[in-house]
Amino acid sequence: MLEQKIMIAPSMLASDFSRIGEEVCRVVEAGADLIHLDVMDGHFVPNLTMGPQLIKSIRSYTDLPFDVHLMLAEPQAYIDAFVDAGADLITVHIELEDQFPTIIDQIKSRNVKAGIALRPKTPVAVVEPYLGDIDLVLPMSVEPGFGGQSFRMDTLDKIDRLRQLIQTRKVNVAIEVDGGINQETAALVGRCGATILVAGTAIFGRDDLRGAIRTLRQAASSG
Ligand code: DX5
Ligand code: ZN
Repeated sequence: MLEQKIMIAPSMLASDFSRIGEEVCRVVEAGADLIHLDVMDGHFVPNLTMGPQLIKSIRSYTDLPFDVHLMLAEPQAYIDAFVDAGADLITVHIELEDQFPTIIDQIKSRNVKAGIALRPKTPVAVVEPYLGDIDLVLPMSVEPGFGGQSFRMDTLDKIDRLRQLIQTRKVNVAIEVDGGINQETAALVGRCGATILVAGTAIFGRDDLRGAIRTLRQAASSG
């Protein structure tokens, strides 16, 4: 599911929620590799978005993997609900240290892939102890909570260091980047070693979704 090639994960947060099922179909037809779903609880981040019920309601629209990014203060209470709703990959934030490593075990015990996300100010070193247990690491390139923000250039150094750590440890962990991804920043993160690019505004903000996805993929591949 998480291959070495560049994968594009449209963030449904930037889609038209009044017809989100059709929006999923549009990005699938346009060449998406994963469907990125941002779950926010108004505590871990100052915004509210979607829950398992909504995710379950769009599960039948595609076979593409659902990449569920949990921005919740108490994710442990909801892992089973998101797996039951159809998540294929669940990413939780490392800032909730008291819930680690149990939560990774909880995700893996349900046979879905597990990822760890870092807020922009969280140092890469805190993820190191878990690199052998996870499938993906997600250094956030904006403060989580909202789409449409500008990419933080200090993310590039974090991607670089994560790639080095992953190579040194010889583990199979993909690097995903989320926030402010556009044609220019896709090239930069691709060059540093990110292979999964989440994009909301850069995809749904354009009429030609296929062209938008192709542009990001090419930029990241040539970066
Ligand atoms: C922010 C979310 C992102 C967001 C990205 O907390 O995790 O997935 O939707 O949106 P853009 O691509 O518009 O920065
Ligand atoms: Zn996200």
